[in-house]
Amino acid sequence: MKVLVTGGAGYIGSHTLVALLAAGHEVCVFDNFSNSSPVALARVRQLTNRDIRLVEADICNGDALMQATTEFRPDAVIHFAGLKAVGESSENPLLYYANNVAGSVNLLAAMDAAECHRIIFSSSATVYGRAQYLPFDEQHPVHPTNPYGRTKAIVEELIRDWAAAHPTASAVLLRYFNPVGAHDSGLIGEDPRDIPNNLMPFVAQVAVGRRTSLAIFGDDYNTRDGTGERDYIHVVDLANAHLAALDYSEKGPCCEVVNVGTGRGITVKELVAAYERACGRNIPAQIAPRRPGDVASSYAATAKAERLLGWRAALDIDAMCTSSWRWQSNNIEGYGDASAG
Ligand code: NAD
Ligand code: UFG
Repeated sequence: MKVLVTGGAGYIGSHTLVALLAAGHEVCVFDNFSNSSPVALARVRQLTNRDIRLVEADICNGDALMQATTEFRPDAVIHFAGLKAVGESSENPLLYYANNVAGSVNLLAAMDAAECHRIIFSSSATVYGRAQYLPFDEQHPVHPTNPYGRTKAIVEELIRDWAAAHPTASAVLLRYFNPVGAHDSGLIGEDPRDIPNNLMPFVAQVAVGRRTSLAIFGDDYNTRDGTGERDYIHVVDLANAHLAALDYSEKGPCCEVVNVGTGRGITVKELVAAYERACGRNIPAQIAPRRPGDVASSYAATAKAERLLGWRAALDIDAMCTSSWRWQSNNIEGYGDASAG
């Protein structure tokens, strides 16, 4: 299948490219490298020994998208491109609405122009907001608590309306929980710019000596050990979920929202202990105040992914930490270590 991958150079996109190419799909990446490096694509080429078409452009540029779809003529689109920093989205909401919402309108219009009506979209568990019950199933009400989350909820609605207007359209809206880890080769992984907002990349940078210690945001939550509990999902499992979603979308018209998680919660202290096992080092950490906006627990109901996509997570927290450590220890400064491909 010919698959246009927006945001394909990013963390989840690069891992999904490896899975797509291994499955024999032909890909075209559309990315402006605003939060990624061309080195990631060179590494994917190295890993797969396959060529990757690249259009270096912004999804805010509707003409560039139109040209990409009408030239490549994709059978399906996987739409990763977007901005994802919760704090930044509160400081600069228009930037988020322009990139995530207006960019997605441009993409759907460009798909229409190329008569492509199949899309897999990167949504987020953040659309659920505060839990009314756990685990979060796909029927849980959607109440995002920040502009980033609202852009994801709006794009879900946008795609639903677009799909309803096209009788042959297939759309799978994947709500990711907490993607972590790296490809087993250690060649590709998560490479945040600036100080990592998320737990696993922060822990990885402490382990490798780039930062001195971890602040654990609160140890007085109502969880097993008082620290926040999340559903961490190995990025390689997540990549495979996209393949399963593509297969599902081929079966016929649909518009489905599907959680992508393991169904199991891991606390901050449990993750740190697993990382210490993986790297064989002590991770200095101290308890700090709660981070505003954080919830105690979040984890997925996974039955729909199993039923609809025939997909379930296979990799555990040890595999997540071991692969993250291989990537981080081989690439201390991330892709900044590499001069070229
Ligand atoms: P990432 O930042 O590593 O990847 C996003 C890619 O999109 C980058 O390569 C970036 O350069 C590109 N991009 C951003 N804006 C663009 C634009 N206007 N035009 C063209 N390219 C653009 O992020 P990721 O972690 O790989 O996330 C991928 C998608 O999954 C995002 O939509 C994100 O919101 C969503 N998501 C991520 C997480 C997570 O924790 N990583 C959780 C839930 C959902
Ligand atoms: N945490 C720390 N110290 C840190 C960073 C995080 O103790 O330095 C704790 C948090 O308080 C939380 C847990 O680690 O209990 C996980 O935090 P993350 O920031 O890694 O993940 P979140 O679940 O808070 O948020 C992430 C993304 C959101 C996304 C959400 C659900 O940042 O964009 O997962 O998909 F919406």
